[in-house]
Amino acid sequence: MSWQYVAVAAEAAVRAGAIQKERYGQGVKVDYKGDIDLVTEVDHACEAAILEVIRSRCPDHDIITEETDLALTGSPFVWIVDPLDGTTNFAHSYPMFCASVALARDGEVVAGAVFDALRDELFTAERGAGAHLNGRPLAVTTADALIQSLVITGFPYDVHEKLAERLRPFIRLLGKARGVRRGGSAALDLSYIAAGRADGFWEGLLQAWDMGAGRLLIEEAGGRVTRLDGTPLGLGPDEVLATNGLIHEELMAVLAETSKAETALV
Ligand code: IPD
Ligand code: CA
Ligand code: CA
Repeated sequence: MSWQYVAVAAEAAVRAGAIQKERYGQGVKVDYKGDIDLVTEVDHACEAAILEVIRSRCPDHDIITEETDLALTGSPFVWIVDPLDGTTNFAHSYPMFCASVALARDGEVVAGAVFDALRDELFTAERGAGAHLNGRPLAVTTADALIQSLVITGFPYDVHEKLAERLRPFIRLLGKARGVRRGGSAALDLSYIAAGRADGFWEGLLQAWDMGAGRLLIEEAGGRVTRLDGTPLGLGPDEVLATNGLIHEELMAVLAETSKAETALV
């Protein structure tokens, strides 16, 4: 059953990706949701395209989408949409962004797709049926120590107000891992963990749409996704720790040390 929903998620993400590719690098009209939190006309155009696909295929389902507050009817099926993840990158013509579409049923993500239009990479996952990249099965890495791991992070839009809190784990991980990356698109970051391109990811605050599809991709690729302290992650805005499973405890321990303000940085 969910495979049909994966097809809907993929169709919607690919439609949005086509818009992103066409408009990329041409300058774009920007509005501000906060000092550094942008929304562009392309976010809105992608959202309209995705909603059109979902509504035509699944008219009775609810939808949570980043740029528009839609009324919920209480359906057990809720689509979770990030029409353009990596808006800051897109606005600067930095080539790291995607569309992310997921479906939750009774509070659990069951299908999802992330599409990177510039690289023509479609990541898909169905609960219980694995994760795929352009149809090829995905598996997380087998790295079992941070010193052999490439880890990814992101900074929420509150980083100016919470600079020290957001930087402490970053600095500490720079001194512990093989490398640390900050891509600027959480949905792609999570997809890359599923694809075995990196070993772990954490971020202090993500929204439901940033991680809806990505978390399922990782779980279906054999990895683990929790809150920073290892407790279960719900569907609301939250901190996130996502790994290949093998480095989860070690990464969790380093993050726990850095949660105390008095902790030495290195
Ligand atoms: C943002 C990106 C970024 C992450 C932020 C997100 P947006 O999403 O995923 O990598 O660090 O927390 O809000 O605003 O580009 O859709
Ligand atoms: Ca996002
Ligand atoms: Ca977005």
